[in-house]
Amino acid sequence: MLYKTPICSLLGIKYPVIQGGMAWIGTCELASAVSEAGGLGIIGSGHARPEWLREQVRRMRELTDNPFAVNLMVVSPFLKDNLRMIIEERVPVVTFGAGNAGGYIPMLKESGIKVMPVVSAVALAIRMERLGVDAVIAEGMESGGHIGDTATFPLIPQIVDAVKVPVIAAGGIADGRGLAAAMALGAQAVQMGTRFVCSTECIAHINYKEQIVQARDRSTSVTGATTGHPVRCLTNRFSREFSALEKSGASMEEMEDLGKGRMHSGVISGDIEQGSLMAGQVAGLIKDIKPVKTIIEDIIEEAGSVIKKISSASCQEVAP
Ligand SMILES: Cc1cc2nc3c(=O)[nH]c(=O)nc-3n(C[C@H](O)[C@H](O)[C@H](O)COP(=O)(O)O)c2cc1C
Repeated sequence: MLYKTPICSLLGIKYPVIQGGMAWIGTCELASAVSEAGGLGIIGSGHARPEWLREQVRRMRELTDNPFAVNLMVVSPFLKDNLRMIIEERVPVVTFGAGNAGGYIPMLKESGIKVMPVVSAVALAIRMERLGVDAVIAEGMESGGHIGDTATFPLIPQIVDAVKVPVIAAGGIADGRGLAAAMALGAQAVQMGTRFVCSTECIAHINYKEQIVQARDRSTSVTGATTGHPVRCLTNRFSREFSALEKSGASMEEMEDLGKGRMHSGVISGDIEQGSLMAGQVAGLIKDIKPVKTIIEDIIEEAGSVIKKISSASCQEVAP
């Protein structure tokens, strides 16, 4: 019942499921499990140096023969070195997060690399299409991590109407209902972050995974809006402290100082009170930690039965 979409052929993947790039925790352990299970695994580079990223790419190739991607952060101080390394290593697909990747697209395209930037607004999606990207990842503000202003439900159809390239929906998707809904809105695939944090293969600290499993619908909040870089995390002592500092009219330097090293202490060291625990609103829907293969198979199966249920004759026809 769930059909392969053109983006599956474009990327050479079996299922329309993509694992979002995630700094610190989107390593080759998680990404290779996703690619092996038929989705697209993405190595998240965050602010990592090219030596680390090259090693990740090489290990990825040892772990899977299937296609994969690398996620680059436009704000990384090592962006240019990482781009050079990606071209040398012939990485098949690159996704960009946190900023306007416009200037870097031509060099990747000239090297035969597929490019899929994350966009959170229609105007940026149109600009990216003009620069020749292969697809756009439209990410709503329900997402974990750095976010834009518009929610996934209104964002996806507006971007689908505005561009011809395939649209991947991200933000607020963790099960087959979400995949079916994204496809109904015109997306050809989904990208998930928070759901994949709670996989057995993800190297994130168990304390952080358990916080996501225990989360409810209102467990996340957004900090950093005044810095121009809003981030969605699970609400904890650190996020409350950051919000208070932000409201007090603190300087950029004070806020940067408070935020330094917090993601590592939260997601890697497992400090659930003083660390930054990036997670999307969909955390409230995630009730278990399970293998990547099971996550993907459950989603595909559920999306298929949801679509079947909707299209079956169990409802009375409503004529306009
Ligand atoms: C812990 C965490 C770290 C993330 N890091 C990045 C990143 O480095 N680069 C990026 O483009 N997106 C990043 N994201 C966003 C994800 O790639 C993905 O688009 C998002 O999580 C989708 O929304 P969801 O969390 O509702 O599934 C991150 C998300 C999370 C939860």
